[in-house]
Amino acid sequence: MKKLYIRRASELVTCRGSAPKKGAEMADIGLIKNGGVLIHDDRIFAVGTTEELDLLAGFEEGSGQADACTETASGYTVLDASGKTVLPGFVDSHTHFIFGGYRAEEFSWRLKGDTYMSIMERGGGINATVGPTRDASIQELVSVGRERMNRMLEFGVTTVEGKSGYGMDRNTELKQLRAMKELDASHPVDIVTTFLGPHSVLPQYKGKEREFIDMLLQDVMPVVKEEGLAEFADIFCEKGVFGIEDSEYYLTRAKEMGFKLKVHADEMNSLGGAELAARTGAYSADHLLKASDEGIRQMAKAGVISTLLPATAFCLKEPFAPARKMIDSGCAVALASDLNPGSCFTNSIPLLIALGCIYMNMSIEEVITALTINGAAALGRADCIGSLEKGKKADVVILKYPSIHFMPYHTGINLVETVIKNGDVAYQKEWERLPELKREN
Ligand code: NIG
Ligand code: FE
Repeated sequence: MKKLYIRRASELVTCRGSAPKKGAEMADIGLIKNGGVLIHDDRIFAVGTTEELDLLAGFEEGSGQADACTETASGYTVLDASGKTVLPGFVDSHTHFIFGGYRAEEFSWRLKGDTYMSIMERGGGINATVGPTRDASIQELVSVGRERMNRMLEFGVTTVEGKSGYGMDRNTELKQLRAMKELDASHPVDIVTTFLGPHSVLPQYKGKEREFIDMLLQDVMPVVKEEGLAEFADIFCEKGVFGIEDSEYYLTRAKEMGFKLKVHADEMNSLGGAELAARTGAYSADHLLKASDEGIRQMAKAGVISTLLPATAFCLKEPFAPARKMIDSGCAVALASDLNPGSCFTNSIPLLIALGCIYMNMSIEEVITALTINGAAALGRADCIGSLEKGKKADVVILKYPSIHFMPYHTGINLVETVIKNGDVAYQKEWERLPELKREN
């Protein structure tokens, strides 16, 4: 058996629990000073103070045995985390990271005053990514996807959700999902896949949205289900894209087919997407910049996770989702990147932390909960990831600094030093690499 012992963490954040944390619970991150984790193979065996775990690991008290060596008599490899913060691996529970081509020019158009929806209406936006994604081979999608996943891992992300939605035809939707399956099997970061066929309306389906949805339900989703290519079904419910009625029709049938549900809801307009998510029993409603008070109340009551994507609001220069109101109303809030080629081409976790703390009035404890256990719950995985506790997957992040307060304070900086995925060191930052290279020159 492979045994790893992370000890002497200045602060160890457990986020313990196997259900989403709602309202005031979000501030309870189960912090342990001078903490440690024992890992056996790919699972967490124990979490506690270093004193407790030294005994459990078989170190003689006060012998200095653990300090002196990296390989001990009891077979543990020791990782000294003194002066550092240890957290559960981050869960990025909403991305669109598999796509062909880029839309950099749209960003500059928006800086000059265009809106996301006006660019979409004149043929840009999501539809402009369809051609390059259809043209890309599966190996091209896998290759670019792998690079993007490496960047995620560097930010401490150990599980990511990825959506289809840039094919909107049978073959390309399946190709995107198959690319993610291949990556899931060959990259340390785990992927949870979502079918997002109804992501946009192609010109030939304008006014015939129901026909398009029926085509997806009949021709594409049975294959997705049969091959186990996606666990969730999602739809872009928005004025000028898919309305409430079409969205409800799609979500109801997708649920009958056995898909778990997510909804792109109330992003640009208050359409009642949050209420729809509550009605249909969705795991999460995502974006929610314009969620109504009634929608917030219903999400809290139904236990729908409010997945907020502040980097998208930031890049679109839109007002942020009302996170404070949601938490104070008893909602479980998750934060995710929304990495995609249009509205938000970033997967920066430090940016999410900064926006959550500075502009959305979330405490750092609430932000940590939103990036770990609540992200896991939004993916139906709160029983196996999202916290550091016995039996969960050994997905651990170690930060360079001694307390969680450095996360918003060292603003915009990636503090991740080590990432452990399934009990193995999957990433190790080499801070001093650059000066050494300079000296060699
Ligand atoms: O979540 N809002 C819809 N979908 C994506 C944007 C995708 C794109 O612009 O390519 C989002 O922001
Ligand atoms: Fe999205």
